[in-house]
Amino acid sequence: MIEMVARFNLTSFGYLRLFTTRVLNFGNQIIEGHFKIWVFQSFNSLIAIGSLLSLLFALGCAYLFVFPSFRPVTNSVGIPKSNSSFGVCNVFEGRWIRDDSYPLYNASQCPFAERGFNCLANGRKDRNYLKWRWKPKNCEVPRFNVHAILEKLRGKRVVFVGDSMSRTQWESLICLLMTGVENKSSVYEVNGNKITKQIRFLGVRFSSFNFTIEFYRSVYLVQPGLVPRRAPKRVKSTLKLNKLDDISHKWIDSDFLIFNTGQWWVPGKLFETGCYFQVGGSLKLGMSIKTAFRIALNTWASWVETTINTNRTRVFFRTFESSHWSGRMHRICKVSRNPLTKTKGRERSSFSDIIMKVVNNMTVPATALHVTPMGSFRSDAHVGTWSDTPLVPDCSHWCLPGVPDMWNEILFSYLLS
Ligand SMILES: *[C@@H]1O[C@H](CO)[C@@H](O)[C@H](O)[C@H]1NC(C)=O
Ligand SMILES: *[C@@H]1O[C@H](CO)[C@@H](O)[C@H](O)[C@H]1NC(C)=O
Ligand SMILES: *[C@@H]1O[C@H](CO)[C@@H](O)[C@H](O)[C@H]1NC(C)=O
Ligand SMILES: *[C@@H]1O[C@H](CO)[C@@H](O)[C@H](O)[C@H]1NC(C)=O
Ligand SMILES: *[C@@H]1O[C@H](CO)[C@@H](O)[C@H](O)[C@H]1NC(C)=O
Ligand SMILES: *[C@@H]1O[C@H](CO)[C@@H](O)[C@H](O)[C@H]1NC(C)=O
Repeated sequence: MIEMVARFNLTSFGYLRLFTTRVLNFGNQIIEGHFKIWVFQSFNSLIAIGSLLSLLFALGCAYLFVFPSFRPVTNSVGIPKSNSSFGVCNVFEGRWIRDDSYPLYNASQCPFAERGFNCLANGRKDRNYLKWRWKPKNCEVPRFNVHAILEKLRGKRVVFVGDSMSRTQWESLICLLMTGVENKSSVYEVNGNKITKQIRFLGVRFSSFNFTIEFYRSVYLVQPGLVPRRAPKRVKSTLKLNKLDDISHKWIDSDFLIFNTGQWWVPGKLFETGCYFQVGGSLKLGMSIKTAFRIALNTWASWVETTINTNRTRVFFRTFESSHWSGRMHRICKVSRNPLTKTKGRERSSFSDIIMKVVNNMTVPATALHVTPMGSFRSDAHVGTWSDTPLVPDCSHWCLPGVPDMWNEILFSYLLS
């Protein structure tokens, strides 16, 4: 049971503030899934996977240097049903219910859904995973009303900042919105770029509605740094925890600013690649990832407080996305056919706890989108082997259409409420 006080403040479209108490209860009844299990049977595929993984690890935090050209808990709140019944609804507490009116789009008809997330196009045959809707305990998430949202976004700028999970949400939002646009060629990437994993900036313009949906890749949000002089040999790069990413000036002057970070804060992408933490001029060799994450989040919070005009910009921070790896080494990916009934602790994440603490303590309005609990049920919704690299099963990323669509439906419920 978690209790917390949430504060919510909507500036762009009216003003409201609310306090709500949240109690998480994960006893929800959902049909148990049947598991499909990938065990790495052949020696060859083990080697292929091994070398791919080590390549990924080796890139780690130095990754950012390789491609220099260019990654809430609001206060968690409920969606208003009528008036002050606000206070009793926490939209992040609930369960998935079957809904045959989903999915909301066809990824094969959306040029901005990358192939790696389009599970159906990559051979996934079971379709139950497409048919679930998040139902908060005491209220409803309003259905994505594409025409109303296209109109609300006229003249606006929406900016996503973070890792590949942010990119997925960015793609999902574009695909959701494109279902309401008649002339598909009026929607284009501003530099004509294709979506790739390393690209630092992508911006899609909806020209007939005069708005853009942008993505900035900043996997840690804070700035990577070079090795300080007299550092031990094992230090190959650093993360400057007290400096926000050097592209952060591009995030200012937006109307909606949605952040995430978390997936890259792991030893394999940090210490094991020679990336260590730095605060000011001093190297912090023994600092734990959790402590570093907290410092980085506070750097982010101060940046928002001093740089962002929250009278114009509505700020969101999405919490950690649950993954569903299993086995002793967390390398086995079982994608089920239906959501789980028991989340086995996955509804909690120490990253999410830190994010919520920091966001709820800010001096300006910001909203935490606490998606960790809802994702924790969805072992059925990961890309598994239906990605563009089927030899490397993936129990972190999500299929599109899928779970990130619900993040966007919740995001826009704030906008329309
Ligand atoms: C708000 O709704 C509650 C019932 O949920 C009702 O008792 C109350 O009178 C309403 N308040 C206003 C101001 O309409
Ligand atoms: C999605 O669109 C593609 C291409 O138009 C089509 O072949 C496919 O049947 C559609 N899928 C679904 C689930 O409607
Ligand atoms: C498009 O939006 C921008 C920014 O809000 C505004 O300055 C401009 O006048 C708009 N253009 C049109 C044609 O509406
Ligand atoms: C669709 O949009 C493109 C790009 O804005 C434009 O060139 C074209 O004329 C439009 N087509 C129609 C039928 O409006
Ligand atoms: C934001 O709005 C408040 C209240 O209207 C005002 O006092 C404050 O100066 C504004 N801040 C900025 C940065 O415009
Ligand atoms: C809350 O923010 C204040 C500064 O605004 C800081 O001094 C304090 O330590 C923060 N508390 C927590 C729990 O992060």
